This record gives sequence, structure tokens and C-alpha cells, in this order.
Amino acid sequence: MGMNRTPLIAGNWKMNLDHLQAVALVQKLHWSLKDAKHDGDTVDVTLFPPFTDLRSVQTLIDADKIPFGLGAQDVSVHDSGAYTGEVSGAFLSKLNCGSVIIGHSERREYHAETDEIVAAKVAAALKHGLVPVICVGETSEDLEKFGASAVPVSQLETALDGVAADAEIVVAYEPVWAIGSGQAATPEQAQEVCRKLRDVVRAKLGDDAADSTRVLYGGSVKSGNIATFMREPDIDGALVGGGSLKVDEFSSIIRFQKHVGV
Ligand code: PGA
Repeated sequence: MGMNRTPLIAGNWKMNLDHLQAVALVQKLHWSLKDAKHDGDTVDVTLFPPFTDLRSVQTLIDADKIPFGLGAQDVSVHDSGAYTGEVSGAFLSKLNCGSVIIGHSERREYHAETDEIVAAKVAAALKHGLVPVICVGETSEDLEKFGASAVPVSQLETALDGVAADAEIVVAYEPVWAIGSGQAATPEQAQEVCRKLRDVVRAKLGDDAADSTRVLYGGSVKSGNIATFMREPDIDGALVGGGSLKVDEFSSIIRFQKHVGV
């Protein structure tokens, strides 16, 4: 965890929880953190619900002043028009979304999102005032053929084409083989790739961007392993899938600073 960077714990709900279940979970999570006297100032928490939940969650966190950020799981490359089924970054900004996940491996795999599409989505997000959470990561075949860092490094290089040096971005390193598998990368493996990804940010956007950009690890993050990742100098947080759907588990991940040894 970098000295000057506020840790970010991001919950990627994927296609889980309808808007009623979403409201219930957000309330319970808020209470759980309050009960544990969690100081929200030391860790940023951002939730990424399905599109259909965004308005309900936004209304709840605004009304109850719940200190969670809100984000979407995808954004269109277009601003508006005849693009059935797509959602504009302009609409997300209107809902007080602050960020959007871009290029998740499930979008790359099931929706054929190329590095060029990812770059266009990053540009669309920034245009509408959203922080892109840019996901990169290698499959197990990539790992065998090219090692751990070659593919994520080249994915990030393309994603950052055309991004201004002062743009706020977040990078998430998610090895595809670690997502939903129960088999996380080791902290050392993850640190090594996250360091190289920070080097890409430095080469493309400069020193200030490299020092301020949060690089997250994602892939089977749990309450039992989060602290070991957060000890690494270039890992500033986590993108959590399955673990973000359980109140106690996610609450414990957010409170990683209380875990032994951190
Ligand atoms: P997981 O998913 O935590 O369930 O492995 C992470 C992700 O896909 O963002």
C-alpha cells in the first residue's frame, strides 16, 4: 500500500442482487461498519452494482449519508443515440456515479471487448467525469506462454493511449485464472505485476500520475488474504467479486487495517 494513496476497496457485484436486495445489502454493510466503529476516512469503499440497482443505491447513500462511492460495471463508447441496450456515461454521471469498471475479463471474454474498445470506453468515462477502473490480466494460457506481466502490461499501454497526464484513473490487476476460482495470486506475484503496471502509468502519464494512481489486485480476495496483499508497496486496494456479496465478509475486507500484522 503506497504511503500517500488512500486504499480503495471496490465491490464488483457482477450480475447479482436486484434493486431490493441491493438496498438491503448496502444498509446492512453500513450498519456492520458502524458497529465495528470503522473509520471511513482511512479507506475508500466503492460499490459497483448492476445498472438497474444504481438509482436505488444512489438514493439510499445520499439520503443516509453513507460514505460509499458508487460506480457502474460498464459504459458505452457513445454519448447517446441509436445503440439499443447501451448506457451512456452521461447518464451514470447524472446518477452521481463517480467511477466505472472498464475491460473486466468477463466483458473481454463474453462481449469480445478488445484493447481498442477498452481504450474508447476509458475515453468515454473520462469525458463524462467518471474515473475508469481499468481491468487488465492474463489468462492461464498467457501465463504459461508469456509469463504474468506481458499481457496486462500491453493491455494497459493500449488503454492509456490518449489519456491526459492529469486524468484520475484506477488500475485493477486481475489474473483471469484467479477470478472466482478460490485461488488468488500470491502477494509477491501480484506485487510484481502491479509494480510493472505502475511503471506503465509512469511511462505514459508521468511521475505524478504514477505516484497517485491506485493499483488494485483482484481475484479471489477474501478477509483471510486481504491483509497480505495490502502489505505490498504497489497494491493500493482490491477489486472484490464474490466476497463483496456477503456483508460480514466484505465488512471484514474493508477493515483489513485491523487484521493482524498490518
Ligand atoms: P472474485 O472476482 O473476487 O469473485 O474472484 C473478482 C472480479 O472479477 O472482479
